[in-house]
Amino acid sequence: MNQASGTSLIDLQNISKTYDSGTQALQSVSTSIAQGSFVSLLGPSGCGKSTLLRIIASLVQPTTGTVSWPSTGGVRPADIGFVFQDATLMPWASVLDNVYLPFKLQGRALKDVAPQIMDALARVGLADFAKSFPRELSGGMKMRVSIARALVTRPPVLLMDEPFAALDEFTREKLDDDLLALWQAENWTVIFVTHSVYESVYLSERVLVMGARPGRILHDMKIDEPHPRSRAFRATAAYGQRCAEISDALRHDAGAV
Ligand SMILES: Nc1ncnc2c1ncn2[C@@H]1O[C@H](COP(=O)(O)OP(=O)(O)O)[C@@H](O)[C@H]1O
Ligand SMILES: [Mg+2]
Repeated sequence: MNQASGTSLIDLQNISKTYDSGTQALQSVSTSIAQGSFVSLLGPSGCGKSTLLRIIASLVQPTTGTVSWPSTGGVRPADIGFVFQDATLMPWASVLDNVYLPFKLQGRALKDVAPQIMDALARVGLADFAKSFPRELSGGMKMRVSIARALVTRPPVLLMDEPFAALDEFTREKLDDDLLALWQAENWTVIFVTHSVYESVYLSERVLVMGARPGRILHDMKIDEPHPRSRAFRATAAYGQRCAEISDALRHDAGAV
C-alpha cells in the first residue's frame, strides 16, 4: 500500500553545502524521493546526513542547488514533521503540553486541538501518560512523545534524524516496528537518518548510502522485501544478504580492508 508509487514528492538537484567555517558538508547531491516511500540516509558520522535532512526541511539553506516539491506545486508543504536524535521535550511541561507545541506555535487554542493531541498520544501508545512529565518517562517513552509531537498536525512528510540512536537495542527494535506500522497506516513519506546498516535495511524501501569528505550519495540501494515487515524478517537470508551488501559498500567507501 505504501510502496513507492513513483510520483516524486521531493526533488533534490545538485545540492551542495559549505558552512561559513569553510567545511564542505555536501557536494552535488541529486535524487528524488517518491511520495509515500520510506527512504533511509545511511553513512558514517560527518557525511552530511543531518545537513541534508535540514536542507530538505528548510532549516538550513543549501549553498547551491535546489529542493523542489513537484507534487505540491513546487513549494514545500507548510507542515513537515521533524524528529531529532534527542527527544528535545520541554522538561517543565506535561506530555500533553509538549505535544500541543506545534499547534500552539500556530496560535491554536488547546481546547480546540485536545482531541488531536489525545489521538496522537494514543497512536504512539501513550494515551495514559498525557499528564505525566518527561522526567517520569523512560527514554523510549520520551521518544514516543517526540514522535507524537511530530505527527500531531498530520504532516505528509516525516524527517527523522537518528531518532532511536540513543536507545537500547530492545527499545529501538520495538520503536522500529511501531514506526513501520504508523507509516503504513498514515501514508507518510519518511526520510530516516541512521548510521545503523541493520536498522536501515529493516525499515526502508530504499537506502541512500552516503560517503564523507565531501558528503555525497554513493549508492542508491533498493530493499525489495515486502512490507509489512516483522521480526521474522530479521532472521531471513534476504535480510542478512542486504545487510552484508550495504556493509560492504560502506566499508569499501571508507577505504578499509
Ligand atoms: N552548523 C555547522 N557549522 C559548521 N560545520 C557544520 C555545521 N553542521 C555540521 N557541520 C559539519 O558538516 C559536516 C557534516 O555534518 P552533519 O551533516 O552533521 O553530518 P552527519 O549528520 O552525517 O554526522 C561535518 O564535518 C560537520 O562538522
Ligand atoms: Mg547527524
